[in-house]
Amino acid sequence: LEDGYDMWLRYVKVSNQKLLEEYRDQLSNVILSDDSPIMNSVKKELEMGLNGLLSKTIIFGDKLKEGAVVLGTPKNSFLVASQKFTELSKISGDGYFLKTQKIKGNKVTFIAANTDLGVLYGVFALLRKLQTQQPISNLNVISSPKMELRMVNHWDNIDRSVERGYAGLSLWDWSKLPQHIDKRYVDYARASASIGINAIAINNVNADANFITVEFLEKISVLAEIFRNYGIKIFLSVNYASPVILDNFKTADPMNPTVKKWWIDKVDIIYRKIPDFGGFLVKADSEGQPGPKAYNRNHAEGANMLAEALMPYGGLVLWRAFVYSHTQNDRVREAYDEFVSLDGKFMDNVILQIKNGPLDFMPREPFSPLFGAMPKTNLMIEFQVTQEYLGNANHLLYKAPMFKETLDADTFAKRKASTVAQILEKIVFEYKHSGMTAVINPGTTRNWTGHPFVQSSWYAFGRLAWDYDLASDDIAQEWIKMTFSNNKKVVNTLKEIMNQSVKAAVDYREPLGLTHIGTGSHYGPAPWSKRSRSFHCASKDGLGFDRTSSGSNAVEQYNFPLSSKFEKTKTTPEKYLLWFHHLPWNYKMKSGNNLWEELVTKYYEGVEIVKKMQREFSSLKKEIDINRFNHVSALLEIQLRDAKRWRDSCVLYFQQFSGMPIPEKFEVPE
Ligand code: GCU
Repeated sequence: LEDGYDMWLRYVKVSNQKLLEEYRDQLSNVILSDDSPIMNSVKKELEMGLNGLLSKTIIFGDKLKEGAVVLGTPKNSFLVASQKFTELSKISGDGYFLKTQKIKGNKVTFIAANTDLGVLYGVFALLRKLQTQQPISNLNVISSPKMELRMVNHWDNIDRSVERGYAGLSLWDWSKLPQHIDKRYVDYARASASIGINAIAINNVNADANFITVEFLEKISVLAEIFRNYGIKIFLSVNYASPVILDNFKTADPMNPTVKKWWIDKVDIIYRKIPDFGGFLVKADSEGQPGPKAYNRNHAEGANMLAEALMPYGGLVLWRAFVYSHTQNDRVREAYDEFVSLDGKFMDNVILQIKNGPLDFMPREPFSPLFGAMPKTNLMIEFQVTQEYLGNANHLLYKAPMFKETLDADTFAKRKASTVAQILEKIVFEYKHSGMTAVINPGTTRNWTGHPFVQSSWYAFGRLAWDYDLASDDIAQEWIKMTFSNNKKVVNTLKEIMNQSVKAAVDYREPLGLTHIGTGSHYGPAPWSKRSRSFHCASKDGLGFDRTSSGSNAVEQYNFPLSSKFEKTKTTPEKYLLWFHHLPWNYKMKSGNNLWEELVTKYYEGVEIVKKMQREFSSLKKEIDINRFNHVSALLEIQLRDAKRWRDSCVLYFQQFSGMPIPEKFEVPE
């Protein structure tokens, strides 16, 4: 029975008989040398993939005949080296190429790269072609990753609870490590590598200091070894006060020589156990976490002390920019205000890790103005795959359009195009390091993510980190085919559902730029709460947060012309309207509605879309396996209930201020 465990790596027999025959002819025997751990992973994946997809036992050998598949690098494959492929100079980093080539009259498929890891990525690319039933008879594909770091963050605690996880316990079974190796570690690494992930921070940013004790490093080094076989480096979130917590130091002051020495020694121990250790992820002076501020040191001084310790080993410090205090009147301004003056002060093995928006993974935020404001500081972006503010693992969501909205945004940092993505690709400023990370939620739930569709955002994140130019629609199509089926009706229907999902989630929750109006748990609606009120600012005179020059002036943090565009209501995109402006209830919208009518319309539309998603999904009863069909159907019911709750709570709450009726057309009994 299907249970979602294989995620997008389902290697079931190709259903199209004609294609199946062709694939069998074109992939008849495999030539590779598996003399390195990664090449060994290549062999295992290919074996598993082809045996399943082609439903036959694949032959490994060295005979170059019709239908041979040759894999390798110029270093480990004589055949690859002898062809003198010009493609090799065109690919960068761990890129790969797939090419059909005639050799002595035999048609041969090459999967080649400059690195073993590139070959592994090439194998996943070939398998993806088979899973999505693409022709492979005349391959000529070259692909290189656009981002250097393609990373995921786990918010996993030492007691195996997962902050904002919603999908069971942490995958890392600390009490049984290092002795017992759960098969899931390998499958997790396979899934990650299949979408190009090359780095992972395995523990929560609200970090337990014990993760860097020798006892835990023993355990972590086992995970590191498994991940290494799939080209993934381990990072650890560290607690800034570790010397105090673990060794009774009186201080964790970054300028204190004994504190510095403590970290130098610690880093040395870590690299002895994990020679390819990636570095530290640090949440400092944020939400109660310790940091350099307690010692009157700034973020750069705090980060550089760790960076110095890591430098000799090539390790990185990923320093988070997620900071705010409860004393400022506009939280949205804070990260920028705190960090911009530090531009150029960080060592070049530090990367500032910035959430996509200036607030906190809300259903919709404009991009953080820090992108485009720090030309001399390595920056990377942090997205959230787990659905903290979006219905946890109960609601169906496909986040690629959200990711794209940020990545494609022009920061206007330079006159020529300088989108967030281009900055992260290091082609706008001269950054030493950069990349994309996402907080993901896999846990011990059989299907890893709780709601099976959370997988789609995880998948899309990886694909976009590899190539942000991919269209969300194409990524959705790939994911559906690999995860569910190639059946046209399934593909088109699920695509339709996924494509509407972000609009629905925003509209029934926080339309027109409203934000942070949920409960303390971030699941349900609470526009009446103190915090929510401080964000939506509803009153008899209107709705929304004034971030223009008459308010907090957060608009000034954006480069021109965005700053002046957001300053004026007419040039602010309506999706961000109430984020930047406080407007009267009778403000005229582009549709001709007044603000109140438009708001109500959005709330009702959001719910209608969920109903539509539900209807569309139920039409797939015969096409989707019963397990996953029933599961998703049940979750859509919950989603509809919640969507109505959000709509009704918010509309009723805001109505006391607008004093206007709910437009009659919405008064239909449900
Ligand atoms: C949010 C989230 C926290 C998390 C924090 C962070 O505020 O609710 O659980 O720790 O972000 O990103 O550090």
